[in-house]
Amino acid sequence: MKQLRTPIVSVLGHVDHGKTTLLDKIRRTRVTAKEAGGITQHIGATEIPIDLIKQICKDIWNVKVTIPGLLFIDTPGHKAFTNLRRRGGALADLAILIVDVNEGFKPQTEEAVSILRTFKTPFVVAANKIDRIPGWQSSEYAPFLKSWAQQDDFTKQKLENKIYELIGDLYRFGFSADRFDRIKDFTRTVAIVPISAITGEGIPELLMILVGLAQKYLEENLRLQVEGKAKGTILEVKEEKGLGITCDVILYDGTLKVGDTIAIAGKDDVIVTHVKGILKPRPAKEMRVESKFQSVKSVTAAAGVKLVAPNLEGVLAGSEFEAVESEEDIKNFRERVKKE
Ligand code: GTP
Ligand code: NA
Ligand code: MG
Repeated sequence: MKQLRTPIVSVLGHVDHGKTTLLDKIRRTRVTAKEAGGITQHIGATEIPIDLIKQICKDIWNVKVTIPGLLFIDTPGHKAFTNLRRRGGALADLAILIVDVNEGFKPQTEEAVSILRTFKTPFVVAANKIDRIPGWQSSEYAPFLKSWAQQDDFTKQKLENKIYELIGDLYRFGFSADRFDRIKDFTRTVAIVPISAITGEGIPELLMILVGLAQKYLEENLRLQVEGKAKGTILEVKEEKGLGITCDVILYDGTLKVGDTIAIAGKDDVIVTHVKGILKPRPAKEMRVESKFQSVKSVTAAAGVKLVAPNLEGVLAGSEFEAVESEEDIKNFRERVKKE
């Protein structure tokens, strides 16, 4: 039997609408606080094991899971980083579109929806910062519906109005959307989950719906099985003390082993090199800021890892790579990247 691949979930949205804060709340980390100017400037990656998801969803958990976890991709929302949002969008099996519910759709929200529409990526809308709705009474990590039941009518109406605006904005892009608890068929209607990335409210439902979508997608789509040949995307090329030039990558298919030969689309020509080391961040740690990488012999998709290999000087961020076993494989890879 083929192995199930960890689904890739990209988090997209306008600058400062709360992407990194949401991931911090899930991971129980403080990556946002370390960012220069509070702005994300690179794509991040974090593996969230299914047990952590179950723990956050414990009050409402009602699905049988087959996936090992989710690989979350954090993307920058600043307008300068369209190429990175596009890359994050292209990698995604599923996505979270995050919108500050008080601000509504903004230019990079629209850009993100367009990317998702282009790639036909199923997504969930996280209507974030509900704790800022005047009068909102917060409770830490509570399911949204539990928190909702505790609000007064005036506060409820304020949130409802904001949700209707989001439904209208999504309609302009050709999507029918509704608040998640009013949806019967999640394959036809985009779910809007009100959340707070600061208090954690609504995150249980958000994760439950994502897991549900991922499994639904699994049944219908063989894209979520590991196919064999290792394939990935270069996120960053970095000099690391004692290791030389290394690459942070997302492996999106197959299994990559130390000793494998890989071909990478380089500046001028395809670079062929051997994998000397594979460094894995700990579960629930952001690869971008991880300091305690674990050296592993092999890694299976999807995963964010740091690769150690000779001849990485000419590699460009954004390039594709693939494991190759013969001259024929290299030739095919060269022809394919030339076309792209
Ligand atoms: P970029 O990556 O730069 O596009 O921003 P981002 O979408 O990752 O947003 P970030 O997580 O940096 O959050 C921006 C600001 O909003 C920070 O000051 C957060 O503390 C704040 N914030 C995020 N989510 C919430 C929320 O749910 N409630 C409140 N009150 N503030 C939030
Ligand atoms: Na930010
Ligand atoms: Mg961010």
